[in-house]
Amino acid sequence: METKILDTTKQNIEKAAIIIRQGGLVAFPTETVYGLGADALNPEAVGRIYEAKGRPSDNPMIVHIARASDIGQLTPFITQDMIALIDHFWPGPLTLVVKKKAAVPLRTTGGLETVAVRMPDHPVALELIRIAGVPIAAPSANLSGKPSPTQAEHVKEDLMGKVDAILMGGDCRVGIESTVLDLTGETPMILRPGIVTPESIEAVLNKPVKLDPSLNAVPNQDVAPKAPGMKYKHYAPKAQMLVVEGRREKVKEEIERLRGLNENLGNKVGVILFEEKAFVEAAHDFFAQLREMDKDDVDLILAGALSDTDSVGFAVMNRMLKSAGYNIVRV
Ligand code: TXA
Ligand code: MG
Repeated sequence: METKILDTTKQNIEKAAIIIRQGGLVAFPTETVYGLGADALNPEAVGRIYEAKGRPSDNPMIVHIARASDIGQLTPFITQDMIALIDHFWPGPLTLVVKKKAAVPLRTTGGLETVAVRMPDHPVALELIRIAGVPIAAPSANLSGKPSPTQAEHVKEDLMGKVDAILMGGDCRVGIESTVLDLTGETPMILRPGIVTPESIEAVLNKPVKLDPSLNAVPNQDVAPKAPGMKYKHYAPKAQMLVVEGRREKVKEEIERLRGLNENLGNKVGVILFEEKAFVEAAHDFFAQLREMDKDDVDLILAGALSDTDSVGFAVMNRMLKSAGYNIVRV
């Protein structure tokens, strides 16, 4: 398939919107990561997303809307909690899992009776959805299992020839995917951590929020993740990856020691070590750094763990642990 590479002029966004309306696939920038979009209400179009990404078909999509009130097309009722969160966080990197209306195909929700909805905070994404006139289903625009794309070049690497068009926006501001919050149970529960923290959600709702107990735990039978997409192999670089956890000075020493040992064996070693407490910067850079390592044909990545007592640190660690396949040493 020929992939149109489009810069983000008004005319090109219109072209892309027509592609969406005709059932095609368009990759587009959001404030978190690039998304791979299709008409969320058209099951054939959504099916093409699964094909292009090589994504398991029980992994549901996030449905993106351009006006908060459009959530009414997707869910049969609105609650006080939903209104409070929408008023406070939209447009922005918070996804709400709510009951779905019959109009939302099961193909889009991976067979679930709930739907994940968000209004992105990016002018190109909003314009695309608005002109297309339909809600847009969009997972991250990477091949399944690879790091999420935070730059247009990353999308090209993964999806050239597999999608109808790529809207070439700039660098994504946040760099990790949205916080996913399940509102269908008695207590709201975070299924995927992100830059919108549990504390900020609790402050808006004025009640406690739970974290899915499987988050950041080494996978085992007792703590299966609640979000289908959280169980798959994810964000994997080509290299082997090891996370080094402990006090800062010790971590630095151990990384240098392991680097030396491995370089002596002829291995190419890459290091990911963020400034202490620079959690937002780490979120912004992490996926891009993984992709750099792949480009440099690194054999081994040594990554310093971030403090997970900070909620953004916890969100970055969620991605780091997965990309390392939970390969951790403590020093
Ligand atoms: O920031 C983002 O959220 C990006 C941009 C493009 O908006 N999108 C994104 O989509 O990360 P994706 O498909 O890569 O991740 C969606 C996550 C998956 O873990 C999926 O299982 C979960 O949300 N999810 C979607 N619908 C759900 C539902 N109805 N119930 C539970 N989890 C759901
Ligand atoms: Mg993804």
